[in-house]
Amino acid sequence: MVSYKEIGLVNTREMFKKAVAGGYAVPAFNFNNMEQLQAIIQAASETKSPVILQVSKGARKYANATLLRYMAEGAVEYAKELGWENPQICLHLDHGDAFETCKSCIDTGFSSVMIDGSHLPYEENVALTKQVVEYAHQFDVTVEAELGVLAGVEDEVSAAESHYTKPEEVIDFATRTGCDSLAISIGTSHGAYKFTPEQCTRDPKTGKLVPPPLAFDVLHEIEKKLPGFPIVLHGSSSVPQDEVDTINAHGGKLPDAVGIPEEQLREASKSAVCKINIDSDSRLAMTAAIRKHFDENPGHFDPRQYLTPARDNMKKMYVHKIVNVLGSDGKAE
Ligand code: G3H
Ligand code: 13P
Ligand code: ZN
Repeated sequence: MVSYKEIGLVNTREMFKKAVAGGYAVPAFNFNNMEQLQAIIQAASETKSPVILQVSKGARKYANATLLRYMAEGAVEYAKELGWENPQICLHLDHGDAFETCKSCIDTGFSSVMIDGSHLPYEENVALTKQVVEYAHQFDVTVEAELGVLAGVEDEVSAAESHYTKPEEVIDFATRTGCDSLAISIGTSHGAYKFTPEQCTRDPKTGKLVPPPLAFDVLHEIEKKLPGFPIVLHGSSSVPQDEVDTINAHGGKLPDAVGIPEEQLREASKSAVCKINIDSDSRLAMTAAIRKHFDENPGHFDPRQYLTPARDNMKKMYVHKIVNVLGSDGKAE
């Protein structure tokens, strides 16, 4: 049993309390490799932003669960080395699919876990979430739950269409499970193709897709039912069109990739939404920089040559999200 407290990580409790009161959101960035982690820590250290490092089941399989755990431990020391005296870094399991997965993360130093029972019938979601909360809280580990189903593919959870969270269920769910935060469905979805062209309109000037707005009415109803309760938005990448264009200009093929407009995420950050999940934008920033580099430098084969611009581009994106979208800069001095 390794306690996250011994390795300098924090859970989400204080982070979220301050974020809800301060009208900003904490970034939750997924990482699968060293370059992503370096870029996240550089961005958070430079801006003094609290940060949540997210590890998915896929990341654990790709990079090895033990290695990722030690990388997060190293990240705390790296942040200090970069001059962030009191790093506020949380290590979080993204989309935990079973009690055992959550337990294994809690036992090995995670400070927060998500149990995603959103695909289950309501009572089963309550029971599973409650079981995880009871275990996690013994070790002061915080738990994110999910109610409502996002459109698209949520790891192994698939839904042909979005099922918004039902505001009438949230009080019962939060009370009976004891969860610390709640992921809701208001129209976001995972990946780089969040909406079909049919669901969007087209900007006549640029020809780019303009997605439909998020269901802020549902968010506000939930906020009224659970005042001050931390709300989480998954699937919140914006799919920057300049990165998509770079990828497509250098041999890629991502037609009609579209995300959540940043103005809407900015608005959400000011509400009870205090955690915003971003993964796809990092993948796009990395891929765009690598494709461009290879195109311009066909003779390069040392990974450090193309991973350096990739890491720099990700860092630029993380800083931008922190400062211009979520407003979490300077909140972890
Ligand atoms: O919610 C999904 C995250 O983007 C993680 O994706 O399961 O491919 O690692 P992944
Ligand atoms: P994106 O695919 O929009 O980056 O969402 C990531 C996410 O929700 C991770 O849980
Ligand atoms: Zn997610």
